[in-house]
Amino acid sequence: MESTTRTGNPEAGEGASPEIQLIENDGEVTLSIGGEQAMQAWERDLMWASADLLCRHGQDFYEVGLGLGLSALRIANHPATRSHTVLELFGEVEELFRRQHPELPDTLSIERGDFFERIFELPSESIDGMFFDPALDMEVWKDEGLWARVVPEIVRALRPGGVFIPFFSTRPELRWQYVDHFRTVHVERHRYRAYDTTEYTYGTSGNAYIQCFHKD
Ligand SMILES: C[S@@+](CC[C@H](N)C(=O)[O-])C[C@H]1O[C@@H](n2cnc3c(N)ncnc32)[C@H](O)[C@@H]1O
Repeated sequence: MESTTRTGNPEAGEGASPEIQLIENDGEVTLSIGGEQAMQAWERDLMWASADLLCRHGQDFYEVGLGLGLSALRIANHPATRSHTVLELFGEVEELFRRQHPELPDTLSIERGDFFERIFELPSESIDGMFFDPALDMEVWKDEGLWARVVPEIVRALRPGGVFIPFFSTRPELRWQYVDHFRTVHVERHRYRAYDTTEYTYGTSGNAYIQCFHKD
């Protein structure tokens, strides 16, 4: 069974327009997409830890999924960063983010598009690291053929020595979608505490594993 899998509404996709809401309630912040909890602010420390790990590996970075922009801002503001490009599927997510953060760092560019199309267009060996944090439908996570086509494209876009970091997992097993495409993997264990209302983790506290896949 997949752990801490960000799922999205099956209706969602470029062209489709799911309802997108920023819900602030009793100090809890949730980005809801199509009625699903796509992102919550309790993840901040895990996002920052992932971002800091990414930024140890170069200066030009790429990220999939803007969400609340917690990781995007951390990467873009890191002293090592020369450029950080974030790809987001929904214009409304970007609008919400820009409303919350009217002043953005010069290093940050936000592009609109679908990762599963855009990845084939990314220039080879053009980035030092990718942080991968989209909310996808469970059917997409399970589609072995899709990952077999897409992950070699991620590897192609990375420079030698570059890294690929998917969002944390609450299980220590290496994520099967990526593991066969890299020779070296670094794993960091962190503790997490979610909100009592969080629906997408198993339990509301425990270990979170950040897996960093290295391109030789
Ligand atoms: C979990 S949130 C990202 C959270 C982010 N790391 C943060 O720190 O706030 C997932 C985001 O991925 C976006 N997304 C989902 N599918 C996508 C796709 N195929 N291409 C690009 N972005 C996608 C969603 O719209 C959502 O904004």
